[in-house]
Amino acid sequence: MLKDKKVRIAVMVSGGGTNLQALIDSEKAGTISSGEIVLVLSNKADAYALTRAQKAGIKAVAVTRAEFGADFENKIIKTLEENNIDLIVLAGFMCILSRDFTDKFEKRIINIHPSLIPSFCGEGFYGLRVHSAALEKGVKVTGATVHFVNEIPDGGEIIMQKAVEVLEGDTPETLSARVLENAEWKILPAATQLVCEKILKGEI
Ligand code: GRF
Repeated sequence: MLKDKKVRIAVMVSGGGTNLQALIDSEKAGTISSGEIVLVLSNKADAYALTRAQKAGIKAVAVTRAEFGADFENKIIKTLEENNIDLIVLAGFMCILSRDFTDKFEKRIINIHPSLIPSFCGEGFYGLRVHSAALEKGVKVTGATVHFVNEIPDGGEIIMQKAVEVLEGDTPETLSARVLENAEWKILPAATQLVCEKILKGEI
């Protein structure tokens, strides 16, 4: 059981950070009431997500393989521990985390994936590739999934999903935008709140 009222959340990012922005806006709106984003960590020093964090007054740090090499994951762990993080949210974080890392944070890492897992997920399925595969297959419905992270890429227990219709003439770009707006930006905050509640209740 956590002593203080709120779960301390770190959001890990690599890119533009629109999912991070949805989390920041949801905390501000009170949709995420059981947790607070206290750290944003990126493996890319130029990720616009870091700028979004700074604008929101949230501590933003870059931990890059270029700078830390083989010590990359240890440096991330050290940074998380220094900030007393209780929950890690991967929001467009493009590195596969080792089993050592995911075992250390059992049921304390969640990820957003832009498909309805188990479709179009796992090794090599990220970003627009996911939507290209969905269009290639000709699915009529796709969507997004929030899941716990374990050592298998996109393999952890599913927490929440939301379906999105594929429209005639969709391109990977138009489909990606619809999945982001209608699914990802909604279920990542909702799932984050749900997991924070479970942590505070001592259920996970
Ligand atoms: C999103 O499509 C997310 O599903 C995937 O990477 C993208 C990140 O977008 N994991 P953003 O950086 O949150 O805008």
